[in-house]
Amino acid sequence: MVKLLGIVGSPRKGGNTEIIMKEALKAGEQEGAETELIHLVDFSLKPCNGCRTCFETKNCVIEDDVEKIFEKMAGADGIIVGSPVYFYNTNAQTKTFIDRVGYLNSARGRKAFRNKIGGALAVAHRSGLSNALSQILMFLAATRMITAAPVVSSLASAKGDAIKDTPGLDDARELGKSIVQIAKATASLRELNCSNN
Ligand SMILES: Cc1cc2nc3c(=O)[nH]c(=O)nc-3n(C[C@H](O)[C@H](O)[C@H](O)COP(=O)(O)O)c2cc1C
Repeated sequence: MVKLLGIVGSPRKGGNTEIIMKEALKAGEQEGAETELIHLVDFSLKPCNGCRTCFETKNCVIEDDVEKIFEKMAGADGIIVGSPVYFYNTNAQTKTFIDRVGYLNSARGRKAFRNKIGGALAVAHRSGLSNALSQILMFLAATRMITAAPVVSSLASAKGDAIKDTPGLDDARELGKSIVQIAKATASLRELNCSNN
């Protein structure tokens, strides 16, 4: 069964990023996937210190939950990264996640997420969506995932507003469905990847 993981970068639980992510995951379930949603704020995740020890040891010197997140991602076929826009880009939690998981993955030879299906989602009051989505899309590319469309933008400000953003909700549903369809069609690529590890 296809496993679809949604990673929510917002610290505001029940907020707009979570609402849009849940819509994508629900569509994925309707397409036959098993889904899980995680909030970055539930994990201890400190910023990368740039020491590059991971390139020698394949492990991070910072003692926190980075491996828990890495393992959850490694166990999924599809991964959606969702961030609220804070000052015209991803928020701090999402960028910290990108730096830590992304660099560790590079140090380990970029095999863990190769050919998984990635999706990008961002929510803003009005501006900065392109920057945030570009950041997430570059992370998906850097980790060698296959990017699914559409790239989801939602315009929402107060907690819960996302439920009124019909185009955002529609795109989220399309993304969830598309990821599962692509994951089913490309399963052999990920098996090949495992056997090469
Ligand atoms: C610190 C901070 C910075 C923000 N910066 C922007 C911004 O640059 N552009 C924008 O359109 N909205 C900005 N917002 C609004 C949020 O993107 C918006 O409220 C979004 O719906 C939050 O998603 P959430 O409910 O998942 O946390 C900012 C909000 C906060 C708290």
